Amino acid sequence: MSNKVVPGLAGVPVTQSTISFVDGQKGTLEYRGIRIEELAEQSHFIESAYLLLYDSLPNATQLKAWQQKIWPYRHLHPELIELIGRLPKDGHPMQALAASICALGMSKPDQAAVDAAKDDEVTACLLGAIPTMVAAFHRYRTGNQPVEADDTLDYAGNFLWMLTGKKPDALQSRILDITLILHADHGLNASTFASRVAGSTLTDPYMLLAAAVSTLKGPLHGGANEAVLKQLRDIGKVEKVKSWMEKKLAAKEKVMGLGHRVYKVKDPRAKALEKLVPQLFEQHGHNQLYAIAKELERVANDLLGSKGIYPNVDFFSGLVYDKLGIPTDLFTPIFAMARTPGWLAHWREQMQDNRIYRPAQVYVGKHDASYVPLTDRS
Ligand code: COA
Repeated sequence: MSNKVVPGLAGVPVTQSTISFVDGQKGTLEYRGIRIEELAEQSHFIESAYLLLYDSLPNATQLKAWQQKIWPYRHLHPELIELIGRLPKDGHPMQALAASICALGMSKPDQAAVDAAKDDEVTACLLGAIPTMVAAFHRYRTGNQPVEADDTLDYAGNFLWMLTGKKPDALQSRILDITLILHADHGLNASTFASRVAGSTLTDPYMLLAAAVSTLKGPLHGGANEAVLKQLRDIGKVEKVKSWMEKKLAAKEKVMGLGHRVYKVKDPRAKALEKLVPQLFEQHGHNQLYAIAKELERVANDLLGSKGIYPNVDFFSGLVYDKLGIPTDLFTPIFAMARTPGWLAHWREQMQDNRIYRPAQVYVGKHDASYVPLTDRS
């Protein structure tokens, strides 16, 4: 066995998968072979979730049945809602989400993992319940009562309704829905790997989702769009963008929302979103942050475009969420809502041919050290 350590398992293949394909050199992302640009333009989140989970687009009957399966789970049991209301209000919404998912699992029958992975009710339940949990925690922590799901609204529209108590317009729902499609899967990223590792132990799907949510919470994974917003607020004025950017680059610091570890051309998800962002601001009013973002995009293109560094999906999604009135610490929970079908699809795939993950370590510690009794230690 090789003693060569690959930090972070970077680039090491650990599984085969048919779920999503990423080509960073060409700027391609496909779900089950369909390009993300096409899905963003023509599909909606629930349909794309079906595609990821079941490997094909649903026909009209399947889609209707699938929605009818998910929608009832958007209404949480009163006891669970009450429990969410008792969580510490100053906690991070991702902590609240992980706790709520575990609590949801406690009310479910214990099923063998391989059977659970084939059970459509499990995936429908998680897809339905998670947005309600995110919204309910936010309502409670801001001193409001939760808003009951509206079964006439689609996935994204209903989430905005439960969060704000206001009915969103068609563009607001559509643009949120598109951000959900764009974030639904992305190869073997850290939280998806966490879901596969947890799944490989045959844990239950609720604990598995909590593991994935916990992994996504980290700023190296889920937090980039939050950081973009903070950065735009720090810059403060359009006139300051160029000098701010030059200073950053001179100090060899990274500008948040630009560049990607995998994509060496423009992030295809950013391309799908950037077309809609101007429409949103056109319809709902421009603001200072958007003006700063547009200038940052222009300056970045001048200074970094030749290196293949462009605005990524987080650059645009942060702006969209902010414009929809969503507080920054809910950006990552929305990412979790979006990534749920991806996590569950990988779990189902893992269960089809499971082997517990057990990588090796290279031990570099001591040997033959002696045990010193407590009384003899200095
Ligand atoms: N700001 C300024 N310069 C950047 C940059 C950024 N965001 N991203 C890359 N560069 C520079 C690199 O420093 C490097 O410069 P050099 O040629 O002088 O050494 C050059 O562009 C090429 O970088 P590359 O190797 O393609 O990227 P990377 O692997 O070093 O960095 C990231 C990739 C994602 C870590 C980096 O782009 C980053 O930190 N981005 C901001 C965080 C972010 O938005 N993350 C969300 C991703 S969806």
